[in-house]
Amino acid sequence: MSAHTQQEIPGEPVDLTELRRVANDGTALRYALMELAAETPDVIALGRGDPDMDTPEHIIAAAQEAVRSGLADRPAPPSGLPELRAAIAEKLRRDNNIPADDDCVLVTSGGQEALFLIMQALLNPGDEVLVPDPRYTSYDQAIEQAGGKMVMVGTEPEDDFDLLPAAVEAALTPRTKALLIVSPNNPTGGVVSEESRRAIAELAKQHDFIVISDEIYEKFVYPPARRLSMAALPDMFERTITLNGVSKAYCMTGWRVGYVAAPPDFIAALTALKTATTGPTAAVGQYAALAAIAGPQDAVDAFYAIYAQRRQLLMEGLTAIGLTYSEPQGGFFVYTNAASSGLSAFELSYRLLKEGHVLIFPGTAFGEKWRDWLRISYLQPAEELQKALWRMEAVLGRLKREG
Ligand SMILES: Cc1ncc(COP(=O)(O)O)c(C=O)c1O
Repeated sequence: MSAHTQQEIPGEPVDLTELRRVANDGTALRYALMELAAETPDVIALGRGDPDMDTPEHIIAAAQEAVRSGLADRPAPPSGLPELRAAIAEKLRRDNNIPADDDCVLVTSGGQEALFLIMQALLNPGDEVLVPDPRYTSYDQAIEQAGGKMVMVGTEPEDDFDLLPAAVEAALTPRTKALLIVSPNNPTGGVVSEESRRAIAELAKQHDFIVISDEIYEKFVYPPARRLSMAALPDMFERTITLNGVSKAYCMTGWRVGYVAAPPDFIAALTALKTATTGPTAAVGQYAALAAIAGPQDAVDAFYAIYAQRRQLLMEGLTAIGLTYSEPQGGFFVYTNAASSGLSAFELSYRLLKEGHVLIFPGTAFGEKWRDWLRISYLQPAEELQKALWRMEAVLGRLKREG
């Protein structure tokens, strides 16, 4: 890699004024950086968590057929196409061991809508939701809009970002309504261990709180980590809301199809909200999701193999340029400690973008205490990742020379 260290990249005056305005709002900060990246020539985007590969051909063909045949023109019920709900329920029983019937499923316009509806239906003003720190900050808006209060539960690199039952227990109060589990996690790539899950399930029963289990990255778990659905644990189905979707598993972010699985009365409450707001999810997307979930899964295996290889490349590259990280056990991200750069992650990500033309989000976009951390997504082909590593090395080298 050292041959490329010599590669000179033009410096630009550091002007963080604009960015500082949004520095304390994780979602706004991510969007501001993406706007800057859009104006940056030859940028390598390792920011967003949206898969870069194409939606598999058989899924596209199913959508085309739904459009051509006129099926996509017909209004779907607000809860989702019956055949899609049935396919999701079957998948949950078969793959996740979740005892879901069709009426336990609501199809949504992406996981994003699902999490908003869940919070609206679940929370009364002042209710507390325990959220692992660092976090995917779209949850903030959903919880706040419903009048709820986020209570952070720390997760740490020393524990491979596992969610520890003791930390959950310490954060409980009489106002605790729910605990959010995102496993594999965005941004850390952590997977909640089986031991922790089982202990957390016992806490949920003992202290009577709901678990919201965001399993959107479930297809990408790297051994020895194993996936395990909270709703599959004994007596947990009735107190677990499972959230998932097709965006990550099938490279379908733009199709906007997600789903919620929960007991039928909660699904009925969500459906009433969905009917009053967005109505049914676009039928064309639902037919595509049906082909994805009920069809052959070889494409997911192929995606898995590609991500596993990129993950390895990125980890080795980061080690070679002197950055440390907690080995990600799932998802698409390496959460990296960049303290050795001597800059805050906020400033470093700005300089990586301006001088190295690499977009990486600072840890502060996922929680204020993560000033030394970067979330690097590996949603670019291996050659681009390699190029990004060389560029990062060059910027870090310059920072060192600047002292
Ligand atoms: C943890 C997590 N949950 C939910 C979502 C929502 O995904 P979508 O709305 O594309 O289904 C995302 C998207 O990045 C995510 O990272």
